[in-house]
Amino acid sequence: MSNSKTHILVTGSSRGIGKAIIESFGKDDVTVVGQSTAGGDDLVAADFTQDGSAPLLWQQALDRLDGRIDVLVNNAGLFQPNPLAAEDWLESWDRTMTINLTSSAELCRLAVLHFRQRGEPGRIVNIASRAAYRGDSPDHWHYAASKGGMVAMTKTIARAYAKDGILAFAICPGFTMTGMAEDYLASRGGDKLLADIPLGRVAQPEEIASIARYCALDAPPSMTGAVLDANGASFVR
Ligand SMILES: NC(=O)c1ccc[n+]([C@@H]2O[C@H](COP(=O)([O-])OP(=O)(O)OC[C@H]3O[C@@H](n4cnc5c(N)ncnc54)[C@H](OP(=O)(O)O)[C@@H]3O)[C@@H](O)[C@H]2O)c1
Repeated sequence: MSNSKTHILVTGSSRGIGKAIIESFGKDDVTVVGQSTAGGDDLVAADFTQDGSAPLLWQQALDRLDGRIDVLVNNAGLFQPNPLAAEDWLESWDRTMTINLTSSAELCRLAVLHFRQRGEPGRIVNIASRAAYRGDSPDHWHYAASKGGMVAMTKTIARAYAKDGILAFAICPGFTMTGMAEDYLASRGGDKLLADIPLGRVAQPEEIASIARYCALDAPPSMTGAVLDANGASFVR
């Protein structure tokens, strides 16, 4: 990175893990731009279900960051059930793929082009999921597939552009408490879910954020292509 402040774009930062990621940069010498669907609170508005929203977000972030982005954190994501019998199954599949994978890919593409054009190093941190390796529930084929795609994309970027100083990391959280505790646990299967986690609890957003912060600022270049698990040993590979 250059001597000046590190410029960072974090998607999905209105709440949950993304908000914790932005807060984790508090004492660092960085300037961060965040995003949510509706915008406000200093966040850029971008709804990834809308065509052209990812490139527009990239441009708006560049405008706010004096034309330079050093780190992209793809965190925005959707976890919505899609039962096999649902009439709009394909529509739901496409929606999740568009938000979780295609928009992340568009932003990664723009980031790599930007880093290479500037001839400067850059970093990409993709928030994937344990589901990429373990799979997910019968109602979440699309979610697991989107996160598996994200991991494969991250490794490809790492291998292709390491020579240009472009580093890419994927983080695979297990269950992470991003809503009110009771609601969150109920939405993920209640007590059964805790029984499956040797640590005895789900992760806190701040734990995932600390990994993202490390990848964004401190992880050594030789770590590029790494996929970091954070799941309380519920899925050890
Ligand atoms: N929490 C977990 O258990 C868990 C586990 C593994 C992986 N992850 C992954 O970690 C990431 C963050 O998860 P989280 O639990 O913190 O999520 P969250 O609390 O539900 O927040 C999701 C974020 O994504 C944004 N977003 C949702 N739909 C969008 C769309 N159509 N266009 C643009 N942005 C959109 C939301 O913006 P709005 O506020 O405007 O809706 C919000 O900022 C996701 O990629 C998720 O798949 C989470």
